[in-house]
Amino acid sequence: MQHPPSSHRSREELGNTVKIAHLTDLHWMTPPSPTRLVGKRLLGSANLYLRGRRRHFQREVQRAAVERVVALAPDMVVISGDLTAQALPEEFRLARGCLDPILSRFPTLLVPGNHDVYTRGAAREDRIRELFAPWLGEGPLGRLDLGRVTCLGLDANRPGLFASGLLPQAQLDALGTTLSDPSLADRHLLIAIHHPVIDPAGGLYQKRSHGLLNADALTDLIDQQRSLPEAILSGHVHRAYCATHTLPSGRRLLQLDAGAGGYAPHGDRTGTFNLYQLDERGLSVATQQRYSEGAYREGPTVWARRP
Ligand SMILES: [Fe+2]
Ligand SMILES: [Fe+2]
Repeated sequence: MQHPPSSHRSREELGNTVKIAHLTDLHWMTPPSPTRLVGKRLLGSANLYLRGRRRHFQREVQRAAVERVVALAPDMVVISGDLTAQALPEEFRLARGCLDPILSRFPTLLVPGNHDVYTRGAAREDRIRELFAPWLGEGPLGRLDLGRVTCLGLDANRPGLFASGLLPQAQLDALGTTLSDPSLADRHLLIAIHHPVIDPAGGLYQKRSHGLLNADALTDLIDQQRSLPEAILSGHVHRAYCATHTLPSGRRLLQLDAGAGGYAPHGDRTGTFNLYQLDERGLSVATQQRYSEGAYREGPTVWARRP
């Protein structure tokens, strides 16, 4: 099995600055064979192929996103789920091949999205793990450490008819144990999760249809810690946004949703992902990367630390 590379910059070169690319919702898709057209996938395929949702995600946009990440040469890459449309083996193989320029060059943490466990069969077989195990991590949490940065990965997906997420208690317990580890005290922490935790208005994103149903349990746990994560990194809603939520302690928790990396221009939407810079004080700036006219280019600053 191929193992993820260490950083292309040495620990000394990294110093206190780390550049992170955050991709999400690339949604590589292939039409399912007739034998797989049952249950949820039948409805999903009708939506994708008859109603035209498939056109929203295009191969050239996905390719441009990967090319842009390689050109940016980040120290770390975070992918917050939805590699596929219907968790088909062919889609995972396509995603693995298309992501190889990233996975073979840069330390990467991947968390699954709800479309990657689209059916009970895909979840039972843990299909994503067949090709992406080195980037998912072992145990209840994903984890990638680089320089002074630690990114933890959570998985709130539930197979079946749910687009909403629910973090299992075992994961919350494991996160509580990890966050209270004194060795994390002087590190800059990020948490990657497919489902947004905070909505664009700053409330908790607990919508029954596709929210994180126990977002409050996660934010309560985070609020019990002495220091907060630099940010929560999410995807799922296919619209990039940045929001902060005021915790019961009065501290403010930041979330950055990177949009959808494979989304072709459509109305006011297009493919987006984020680039983060961290320095000795933590996250300093988040810049959006936007697709237009055949390539990804630098977009607006979506968040910057106050001077
Ligand atoms: Fe998605
Ligand atoms: Fe999703």
